[in-house]
Amino acid sequence: MTDSPVLLREARAADLEALGRLEREAFVEPWRAADLATRLGRADHLLLVADRGDEVVGYALFQRAAGEAELQRIAVPAGARGQGLGGRLLAEGLRRLRRAGDSACFLEVRASNLAARRLYERAGFTLVGRRRSYYADGEDALLYHLPL
Ligand SMILES: CC(C)(COP(=O)(O)OP(=O)(O)OC[C@H]1O[C@@H](n2cnc3c(N)ncnc32)[C@H](O)[C@@H]1OP(=O)(O)O)[C@@H](O)C(=O)NCCC(=O)NCCS
Repeated sequence: MTDSPVLLREARAADLEALGRLEREAFVEPWRAADLATRLGRADHLLLVADRGDEVVGYALFQRAAGEAELQRIAVPAGARGQGLGGRLLAEGLRRLRRAGDSACFLEVRASNLAARRLYERAGFTLVGRRRSYYADGEDALLYHLPL
């Protein structure tokens, strides 16, 4: 990893291959690049990437409906974690959603995903519920909420 500055911007078609790779690295049940392609450039989605010039070093996908937003995906490649990129992507996404008029953001996360939970709690999200055995392997999902 280099120390080049990282720009946060909306995703474009040229990013999709890299996002598909990141999905496969970061998630047990990855989305395909084609799943993300359908969300590009739509008013009801916000797909942000962290662009380091030579590489996409993270992304966040929000879905918007009825004045509220849901964080659907957020990931940073393993070699770039712990440097604040996840926090920057989340903060920038929330800033844009607030500016667009959304009043709240929700998300769900595996109970065991301590790094993600720490990220969300640091951003101000509060735990509002638990869905027992929500995931295919029986793990609970935790629901978090942030008023915007
Ligand atoms: C969640 C994720 C996006 C965070 O990205 P990141 O760039 O590392 O995020 P940041 O560096 O901004 O912050 C991570 C925080 O988690 C903390 N953290 C990292 N590993 C941790 C662990 N095992 N337990 C507890 N906290 C941990 C870091 O210390 C940091 O908190 P701090 O700044 O208060 O010290 C990244 O870990 C990731 O891609 N995970 C795989 C995909 C995923 O699980 N996505 C979320 C579910 S949809």
